[in-house]
Amino acid sequence: MTAQHAQWGSRLTFILAATGSAVGLGNIWKFPYMVGESGGAGFVLVYLVCIALIGMPVLVAEWLLGRRGGRNPIDTMAKLARERGRSRAWALLGVSGVLVGAVILSFYSVIGGWSLYYTGQAAGAQFAGADAEGVSEIFDRMLASPGTLLVVHTLFMAASVAIVARGLKGGIEMAVRLLMPTLAVLILVLLIYAMFTGHFGAALHYMFALDLDSLTGGTVLAAMGQAFFTLSVGAGIMMAYGSYLGQETDLLSTARTVIAFDTVFALAAGLIIFPIVFANGLETSEGPGLIFVTLPLAFAEMSGGTVIGVLFFVLLSFAALTSSISLLEPAVEFLDERSRLGRVGATVLSGALIWVLGIAALLSFNLWSAPLPVVDLTVFDLLDVMTSQYMLPLNGFFAVLFVGWVLDREQVRRELGLEGVRATLWSLAARVIAPLGVGAVFVAGLT
Ligand code: PFF
Repeated sequence: MTAQHAQWGSRLTFILAATGSAVGLGNIWKFPYMVGESGGAGFVLVYLVCIALIGMPVLVAEWLLGRRGGRNPIDTMAKLARERGRSRAWALLGVSGVLVGAVILSFYSVIGGWSLYYTGQAAGAQFAGADAEGVSEIFDRMLASPGTLLVVHTLFMAASVAIVARGLKGGIEMAVRLLMPTLAVLILVLLIYAMFTGHFGAALHYMFALDLDSLTGGTVLAAMGQAFFTLSVGAGIMMAYGSYLGQETDLLSTARTVIAFDTVFALAAGLIIFPIVFANGLETSEGPGLIFVTLPLAFAEMSGGTVIGVLFFVLLSFAALTSSISLLEPAVEFLDERSRLGRVGATVLSGALIWVLGIAALLSFNLWSAPLPVVDLTVFDLLDVMTSQYMLPLNGFFAVLFVGWVLDREQVRRELGLEGVRATLWSLAARVIAPLGVGAVFVAGLT
């Protein structure tokens, strides 16, 4: 075990790293296609409500637990439960977090690989002059080739391992400092393009004009899962990142900042994609391929499209990397602190295991595309649904429950700097609203 636990360089680097973890493929790739599959505004509304009422308290709870424990999520939970005279079984929350992060990374890396592949396609000017059909063909060709998917998945995993192996300062902090601001600028450029050339009004209507008929139990469950996924909560990550945090950081205001960035990126991605979808007569329910068959159309048409296309996919790959390194961190922190492998050995071993699981996920798009019996999902979909819709919310539920009901209330209030009405609101959120919210969504989704 390391004698002195590492710490973030400053509050800003912590915000950047947490935002880097939150903002990723979940915002730009997953959010738009989930909105499209669920029929629009109903999903968006539930998603936003879940972020505010459930995601925010869970995020703060995970940071608080991590900072108190000061270790990897498993030992953190074991230590805090012991201190409060509770069962050691609470350590299972840490175990589940570490595992779910690793499982998410296995399929996340496959999509990170797609993004690398598209960087290459954009650089080779493959989108220039292409129409909707041509662009779909590029996507289908990539999916049909297990070899191509394996190469890009491997490259993506190798990059993640290389960054995480370098440790907190050299790796994660360096990677997020420059990349997030550049991505924000590029998203703005694309948003302006979509506003002026796509069917922007139709997209606004689709995303925000509430149609309650589109709200089914399944949509509600999917929207909550997406809220957890996008904030990176429920996977031990924010607990692990919290363990590198000094006492002086204000958790509530930091959470507000991270959530604001994350939400703006997701909504902006939707407002970029859907105008292009409507202007080109594409299907909103295209599924995981949505951004890969819409954005290249924009790059094909706009002046300077090749350069903007390359930049976009490079930055998307980096946004994915700043999330994938966070997905790897809890497992690495655990192995590093609990074995003799050292940071590099721990990273390589976890990376290799996750890489193998990723191969099963990527075969879902070609050789192994038949749904599995019983669950009726491909391996890729199973890994996604199992983690996002069930495991993340369940882990988040227990984390916020622990902070709300097991930790000393007064101490938590003091640690969050809360008094009076704000303290009562926090207690209400952590003890009642967030846990009940997760429970209610499960009941709605499963009945
Ligand atoms: N939040 C990241 C995204 O939206 O792309 C991905 C992610 C990271 C999901 C960590 C879940 C997680 F625990």
